[in-house]
Amino acid sequence: MQASIGIGILGCGVVGGSLARRLLAKEPHVHGVEHTVHAIAVRSLARNRGEGIPPSLLIDSANALLADHRIDLVVETMGGTTLAAEFVERALERGCHVVTANKALIGSQGPRLHALAARRGASLRYEAAVGGALPILRTIDEALAGDPIESFVGVLNGTCNAILSAMERGGSFEEALADAQRAGFAEADPSEDIDGLDSAHKLAVLVQRAFGAAAITPRLRFRGIRGIDGDALRRYSKRGYRMKLLAAARCDERGIAAEVAPALVPREHPLGALEGAQNGVLLRARDAGELYLRGVGAGGPATSSAILGDIADVLRGIVARTQRNDRIDGFAPILDIRPIFPDTLAIWNDGFLTSPATRLDAAHSSSAH
Ligand SMILES: NC(=O)c1ccc[n+]([C@@H]2O[C@H](COP(=O)([O-])OP(=O)(O)OC[C@H]3O[C@@H](n4cnc5c(N)ncnc54)[C@H](OP(=O)(O)O)[C@@H]3O)[C@@H](O)[C@H]2O)c1
Repeated sequence: MQASIGIGILGCGVVGGSLARRLLAKEPHVHGVEHTVHAIAVRSLARNRGEGIPPSLLIDSANALLADHRIDLVVETMGGTTLAAEFVERALERGCHVVTANKALIGSQGPRLHALAARRGASLRYEAAVGGALPILRTIDEALAGDPIESFVGVLNGTCNAILSAMERGGSFEEALADAQRAGFAEADPSEDIDGLDSAHKLAVLVQRAFGAAAITPRLRFRGIRGIDGDALRRYSKRGYRMKLLAAARCDERGIAAEVAPALVPREHPLGALEGAQNGVLLRARDAGELYLRGVGAGGPATSSAILGDIADVLRGIVARTQRNDRIDGFAPILDIRPIFPDTLAIWNDGFLTSPATRLDAAHSSSAH
């Protein structure tokens, strides 16, 4: 019989704290598999972690956690790409399985880390890195395992969607951003979200998994929503179009095209209906056709829900002595990723047809005269 599987968690913030509480509450079993959380590494032991996290589990040395041979599975919830990469590599080198929520890490270094995981016979899972609670990677890997994905388009950044939704009700970009920061939707430094980098990381992860291509974030063109004109946005809204920050990609005989950009989406389109901080992804597979996933894209409970799913999967894999991520055979190198959107604001139509939004403006000014 398999002994209790040892888990170590790097980080105990919004995501790690929520996960630790839930995992500890579920001890000693997740889906019938025995596990024990041996350590939670943080930067500062002085911070109060609240109920449900025994201080005896907290340590201020990630190195000590990584050297603990009782630990079979490391969950990385620190964020960042430098130390997080170093720690994830060390865990994989040791043959530990890794679950992470870190889109920046996987977006920029996923193919390299997968190669390392495969060499060491370890699992590397990151469902929470894209779309929070949305089971998008699982849908691609499992439900659509036998069906090539042709394209996808998503709203993957809740902060931007909340800001754009608020601007429709009135006010400028700067006012909507300040409101989002006060409400806790936007970081004090919001640039990764509003300049499109966060969505670009998630797009890179989806391109890797949907098309099996070694796409990394620096290879993708991305734009954000900084300084979007509120009056124009409300004018488009009156004509039935909502502005969304879209992450889109397609794969065909010409290769891969992928990009993040703001675009106008018809109100009745599934992505056009997304409100506030919601996320949504529309996938098109050759035989299954169109599938749509929508839900909560961030926050401790939603994100830790996806992490718990990955943990349960890895634990089952350990017990069954299989690698749950061995469906990834490696990534094809890619020479070039073409952009998708025109340089001017586009209207998004299904099938990736775009027509410049300037036509709407022209129609608006001629009807105004
Ligand atoms: N927040 C979300 O809604 C969300 C959603 C999806 C994915 N994610 C991803 O989840 C990850 C974590 O995000 P978060 O919002 O939970 O961040 P956070 O609240 O800032 O938490 C980060 C945690 O990591 C710890 N930490 C940082 N550097 C460390 C080090 N060198 N050694 C040990 N511990 C260290 C911090 O310790 P202290 O507490 O002592 O400072 C803190 O507990 C990121 O990759 C993020 O992109 C977040």
